[in-house]
Amino acid sequence: MRADYLGFVQRLQRDHGDLTRMRIVNEDAWDLMSPALVREALVTHADSLIRWERGIAVFEQVFGQSVLVTEGDTWQRQRRMLMPAFSPRRVAGYAQLMTDAAQTALDAAVPAGQSEALVTMDTLWTDVAMDVILRTLFSESAQADARDAAWATQTLSAAAFREMFMPFTLPDWLPLPGKAAKRRALKALRGLVQRHIDVRRQEKGAPQGPPAPERADLLHMLLALHDETTGEPLSPQEVFDQCMVSFQAGHETSATALLWWSRLMAEHPEAARRAQAEVDTVLQGGTPGPEHMAQLPWLTATLKEALRLYPPVAALMTRRTTAPITLGGVAVPRGAMLRITPWVLHRDERWFAQADRFVPGRFLEGAAPIEKGAWIPFGVGPRVCIGQHFAMLEMTLLAAMLLQRYTLHQPEPAVACAPQLHVTLRPDVPVVLRLVQRRQIDLAG
Ligand code: HEM
Repeated sequence: MRADYLGFVQRLQRDHGDLTRMRIVNEDAWDLMSPALVREALVTHADSLIRWERGIAVFEQVFGQSVLVTEGDTWQRQRRMLMPAFSPRRVAGYAQLMTDAAQTALDAAVPAGQSEALVTMDTLWTDVAMDVILRTLFSESAQADARDAAWATQTLSAAAFREMFMPFTLPDWLPLPGKAAKRRALKALRGLVQRHIDVRRQEKGAPQGPPAPERADLLHMLLALHDETTGEPLSPQEVFDQCMVSFQAGHETSATALLWWSRLMAEHPEAARRAQAEVDTVLQGGTPGPEHMAQLPWLTATLKEALRLYPPVAALMTRRTTAPITLGGVAVPRGAMLRITPWVLHRDERWFAQADRFVPGRFLEGAAPIEKGAWIPFGVGPRVCIGQHFAMLEMTLLAAMLLQRYTLHQPEPAVACAPQLHVTLRPDVPVVLRLVQRRQIDLAG
């Protein structure tokens, strides 16, 4: 299981069907591998499920009592309060911060004066996505902040992945490999977030002096939120924890999705040319914005297809039953562990013809409808990703901006790469592409 988790779950389904049960030491583990079973669990029985405790114990160290971690009434209150900050309308307001972040990094991907370059896309997208999250959270992104935050989030993510497979977390003060780095990473990230919150609170509280700049960022939103029923704002700790979540949940996932997408574009020049033509026609060389989203159906389809083939959260969406439930007519006891593996659903021929092939057309209007619950890169049910509109907007804007500037090619000879499960699904080798500057004439025409 550890050596090839995704292959293991696929074989499990092939040999034993859509609902399986296995005992792993003390765990009563159930794998749900059809859309109907997944929806029955995550939608119909949502009230009888909590997150898997081990995952929570690992995440809690970094994310505190944030919406990713909490359960019951606290989660309901936090989710209710946060939803407006992540609605499609609000998220549209962050578009300019996103494109500002991407502009410099994408322009500089191929050095000035050169017509092409071999570019390590992992670094490019990690830098851009970090800049996006810093700017959408705090309206600004200093280079030192971005570097520290990128190192810290990667270190914390690697530590989380290691700890996830251990039955308990050893104290961070122990002189064990990785512990010192984890301590430093946590300190750096917490320091950075706190610094920005302090500055903002000072700005708000300052009675004299120049008026504080009007900000349209996520931190502004978080500080302004009030519970509809009680009128209470988020507590200072909740604002802090929510910023920490946005870093981790919003950075690596989007960067990984864009990484796989750009590789797929280089592998499928026909699809890339069509996306480029669409972008050129709609944008006429201008900067993309939320108003263009609906006019870029092919580009959106390529992104959705990339999320299908390589879902950043590919496995280990795990829950615990807090009451007996039935799934597909089978009685599942209280205390069972339910495992959902988007990778398996997304590559099942019953829901996706030619499931292993890149076929963006399946996501176009007019194509055969996709079985509900078969495409779940953002999860499903009440705990569905709160950042999904944010992520789709970010990815579409950034993808369009990349295609405006460059044509993507595989280097020769092309390097094979295989997906590897970390916290997100990463390629096992760096993705290096040949980016060729598009001539002005291309852009104009
Ligand atoms: C391509 C990008 C992204 C992917 C694939 C993704 C995927 C997911 C998935 C699968 C879940 C549900 C996990 C489960 O049910 O156990 C989730 C939850 C969550 N995501 Fe995302 N996410 C992305 C981007 C973002 C962004 C940009 C943010 C915030 C800025 C974000 C914030 C969250 C939060 C707070 C939750 C927990 C929601 C809750 O439990 O109520 N995500 N995400």
